[in-house]
Amino acid sequence: MTSKIKSFIEDGIETYEANIDGEKIIWDKGLSYSKHLQTKTLLACQIPVSEEPEELMFIIVHQSMELWIKQCIHEINLIIKFIGTNQLNRAYKSLDRIAVILRHMINSWEVLATLTPNDFLTFRPYLQKASGFQSYQYRELEFLLGNKKKDLILVHKDDKAVYDHLEDVLNAPSLYDVTLKLLADRGFNIPSKILDRDFSQAYVPAPEIEEIWREIYSEADNMWDLYTLGEKITALEYYFQEWRFKHMKTVSRVIGYKKGTAGSAGVAYLVKALDNSFFPELWSMRSQMTSPEDQQSDKCPI
Ligand code: HEM
Repeated sequence: MTSKIKSFIEDGIETYEANIDGEKIIWDKGLSYSKHLQTKTLLACQIPVSEEPEELMFIIVHQSMELWIKQCIHEINLIIKFIGTNQLNRAYKSLDRIAVILRHMINSWEVLATLTPNDFLTFRPYLQKASGFQSYQYRELEFLLGNKKKDLILVHKDDKAVYDHLEDVLNAPSLYDVTLKLLADRGFNIPSKILDRDFSQAYVPAPEIEEIWREIYSEADNMWDLYTLGEKITALEYYFQEWRFKHMKTVSRVIGYKKGTAGSAGVAYLVKALDNSFFPELWSMRSQMTSPEDQQSDKCPI
């Protein structure tokens, strides 16, 4: 049975109403789902470079990851702002959201892993030198988190807007830099060579910072907000590493130990990246922690 559409003007907009599947459904000529989400533009963006049926999924997985990276960048910029203004509860909310998004992204490797080596070989030559290495959003995300390496932006030299933006992010304090500044504002003795460091350079772990985190964790009850912040940014790195690991594992499953399309050593390059830590002392400090009983006995040897 065809539904009859009633039309009328509501708030100056041509509006429609029909009984569809037992529901009174309304819509209008104002904002629609597709207009809001730009569905036509979005769905026009999957343009395979081969005629091979396996390529569509490869494109869709990459594009979904890029969308989630966009959201992570958005949340990290909020976190940096909230930590800088001492609004930790708000920072926690975005940190929790990123952790969930990363877990979702980690799961999406399972979809890509359905691409067999044979499937990939049908279209790999068509990809030429295109590689995730050129993902400028991923690079921005890594810079925001603190993996600062200027050379990584060389591949964007021809795109001035992208290059300049990445250079700005490279030169700005990372999530960890603003966290250490917060600790300084809370009275911890962060050396000035760390607070005033050249933010475009890789962060060098320092024993003084490890000791500060150890103190915060040992006296968590008195510094619950900083302890919680430490745990939430640790979780962020934990999931980020899992994403890197699943990427590396998926790559070795699909191309083995061949070179990457960007010319790198492939899996060996991705394994190397697993050693990059954004918040090194939050990890190293754990080896220095002692049980509450030991701390008691330190204070009172009798
Ligand atoms: C079958 C699928 C995939 C293969 C075979 C693959 C392979 C590789 C290889 C070999 C590299 C090292 C650079 C090179 O020489 O090309 C790389 C880097 C990278 N890939 Fe993938 N990749 C795949 C899927 C993905 C997906 C879905 C994403 C999501 C955005 C992604 C993002 C990246 C990023 C961001 C890098 C740079 C990592 C870094 O510099 O630390 N890759 N990929």
